Amino acid sequence: MRPPVVSAPLIPPGASVLFLDTAAGAPVHPEVLRALWPYLAEEQGNPSSVHTTGRRAREAVEWARATVAAALEARPADLVFTSGGTEANNLAIKGIALARPRGGHIITTAVEHPSVLESCRYLERFHGFRTTLVPVDAVGRVDPATVALALRESPEATLVSVGLANNEVGTVQPVAAISALARAAGVPCHTDAVQAFGAIPVSVRELGVDALSLSGHKLGAPQGVGVLVVRRGLHSEPLIHGGGQEGGARSGTQNVAGIVGLGAAVQRATPTLAERAALLAARRDAFIADVRQRLPDARLTGDPVNRLPGHTSWCFPGVSGESVLVGLDAAGIECSSGSACAAGRTDPSPVLRAMGVPAELASSAVRLTWNESVGEADLARVVEALVKILGFSLR
Ligand SMILES: Cc1ncc(COP(=O)(O)O)c(C=O)c1O
Repeated sequence: MRPPVVSAPLIPPGASVLFLDTAAGAPVHPEVLRALWPYLAEEQGNPSSVHTTGRRAREAVEWARATVAAALEARPADLVFTSGGTEANNLAIKGIALARPRGGHIITTAVEHPSVLESCRYLERFHGFRTTLVPVDAVGRVDPATVALALRESPEATLVSVGLANNEVGTVQPVAAISALARAAGVPCHTDAVQAFGAIPVSVRELGVDALSLSGHKLGAPQGVGVLVVRRGLHSEPLIHGGGQEGGARSGTQNVAGIVGLGAAVQRATPTLAERAALLAARRDAFIADVRQRLPDARLTGDPVNRLPGHTSWCFPGVSGESVLVGLDAAGIECSSGSACAAGRTDPSPVLRAMGVPAELASSAVRLTWNESVGEADLARVVEALVKILGFSLR
């Protein structure tokens, strides 16, 4: 594997740093900061306290719950605030499985986030569960027929969990079709909507899922807040025990400022979602066409059609992804080599491997994700930087 050749200083004079890693975490919007600030600086209320200040904190939490529930077409009472997407996925997988161990069997996919897969592994190790990983195709999509087959082979399965959109390759899964199959088999269905929520329309009602996870920091709320939606009537065993907050589903004083920030971010993002998604998808497709034209060896990974709007992911044959990242960083362009969630990982991405990408090619993975603040001129700058970094390295 050859390092990329960097021929000249790359940062254009006067250019600012371009953040192309919104799949790892989007910046907190000033409006969101303004909304949450009083709950950090002035309001010291604990939402469980009976006095006026405590009641104000509780009202703020309930406002956020109603706001997020409305965006998801879910019942506010079905939302549990968590510390983020990882905890929401742990609570979904372990909580539902331990409350309803029927069959002792989870059906999921090989391309799930580690918080899903490691929760399944925990259930295998300590509670005797087994896990079926249904395969994905070359663009990372699950064929609902493979879930139907797994359900036929295991009609007593405990839970089906398929993420709505993949963080590394942006592929959007046919979750409504999968949940319909699970429902017909009488098996609850969970989806990890961490990457999808705020990027594409996400409705619990339309997806037909029994449980759904999301995370605040992917859509402009602060880090450290998330939600698990659990449909009424489906019990999930709590993982954190204590004072019985969140209806007993998740003990611990709520992160009031974070929760208000999530409510404010959702309130801000929802009305413009369709318009933003269309704009981002158009810019994404133009960028993909441009990269393919200028760097014919570059390979887009993931589904070119069923794909998150502000998401592209690439493999560059013969070059290490890490060195492309370093080159782009030197050019003032920040992105990632697939997933920010597996910090320090050096082995090729299991997601790409599950899609049949050879190990060597998988280690050249680079992910570029952005929001509407990144315009056409910015993306043109990214293409130029990639050409400079890779032009000499690709065959
Ligand atoms: C698909 C997916 N699920 C779960 C998570 C974990 O969310 P959090 O960072 O809030 O723990 C992430 C984080 O990137 C993700 O992309």
